[in-house]
Amino acid sequence: MPVQSPEAGALPALPHWEQTPEDLPSAIRQVKTALRARIAASGRTVEDIFAVVERRIEAEVSEIEAARERGETIWPVIQYADIAAAAVSDDARALLRRRGCVVVRGHFKREQALAWDQGIVDYVEGNRFFENYRGPGDDFFGSVGSRPEIYPIYWSPAQMQARQSDRMARVQAFLNSQWKHESQGVRWFDPGRDSLYPDRIRRRPPATDSGGLGAHLDPGTLDLWMTRDYQRAFRHLFDGTVEQHDPWDAAHRTAGPQYPGTTMCSAFRTFQGWTALSDMGHDQGVLHTIPIPGAMAYLMLRPLLADVPDDDMCGVTVGQAFPVSRRWHSLLLRALTGLPDIQAGDSVWWHCDMIHSVAPVTNQRGWGNVMYIPAAPWCPRNERYAASVREAFRTGSSPDDFPAEHYERTWPDRFHPSDLNDAGRRGLGLLPASPPGQ
Ligand SMILES: [Fe+2]
Repeated sequence: MPVQSPEAGALPALPHWEQTPEDLPSAIRQVKTALRARIAASGRTVEDIFAVVERRIEAEVSEIEAARERGETIWPVIQYADIAAAAVSDDARALLRRRGCVVVRGHFKREQALAWDQGIVDYVEGNRFFENYRGPGDDFFGSVGSRPEIYPIYWSPAQMQARQSDRMARVQAFLNSQWKHESQGVRWFDPGRDSLYPDRIRRRPPATDSGGLGAHLDPGTLDLWMTRDYQRAFRHLFDGTVEQHDPWDAAHRTAGPQYPGTTMCSAFRTFQGWTALSDMGHDQGVLHTIPIPGAMAYLMLRPLLADVPDDDMCGVTVGQAFPVSRRWHSLLLRALTGLPDIQAGDSVWWHCDMIHSVAPVTNQRGWGNVMYIPAAPWCPRNERYAASVREAFRTGSSPDDFPAEHYERTWPDRFHPSDLNDAGRRGLGLLPASPPGQ
């Protein structure tokens, strides 16, 4: 018999699967039974700890609804100039941490962003991308007519220049520093060094009708409950100390495995993000988030309540984005809030665990163009992935996290190794963090 004690070490151990379980319903049943037993052994019930989380989230949802009623902008806005001058106020920092998302105004000069946008057009047209486009490599995003909305393009000069720029590094370091990156005697990641996670481009033309993208989150799927490292990362949710759960604690998040799938992200990202390459009105099919980092506790505990079938994790399964639905998460969806108006050169960031969606749009005014560039600080997980990124960069291939489309392999004007600066080389693991020099 396990000892009934609030000390985590004395609670019953959890079964874990470091690779995708073969029998998913059985594994779900096993882990749910074990999680309930572990919480019960702490002396509390699942219903009790879920009620604590629900009360907190309810208060935050109400606060966001009230702020919206007052006409306030929900997404915090921080000027790039304040980040560069280390002059972001404590209040602005506190709001960023409360909401888990931020718009960085003037991250790049408008002319720079527009020039990058044109550079991408020249790059794809010059290499006859549209003539050769074979259709979507996955069904995660829709396409616009015969032209894609998401370009599976990774190695344009524009993207790489942005990824390795000083301005990008400053904002990433600022965002990374909102997280606790050292604890339990471990340095979980290096906040000052990014790993240049290569992602795609979105270019949505004027007059587009788009169905948008439903509410979901991206840090993982069943692995969030089933791998040893994630069980440790979410330890406070499962050991009766839910009040101590800290969405900004990187402990145990930066080394463990992920279950494979077309929507997976091998990297640890402190924030997901994109840089705007066009102006976008707030009502033109823009990104929405549920701006409550603590909502992850709700998502992780909700499947343990008695009204969810034993072999169901509220619809979460491998190989698909983690869904957020009216059926299980209606409280959270009340807080779903869109971006304010965005200008070319602004960047947009949201905590990696945060629920997000893209609103539908009819007859879109203007373009909707972004480069996806997250904050993915150097850590064991990102160092591991960087090895495959280096190879993809060298050969112009699609990175391993994405469909194997490889359009750029024969494109002569893609970004070349000789174009890398020190930040680019460090990000790809071609240069040690310190001391500088090869
Ligand atoms: Fe997403």
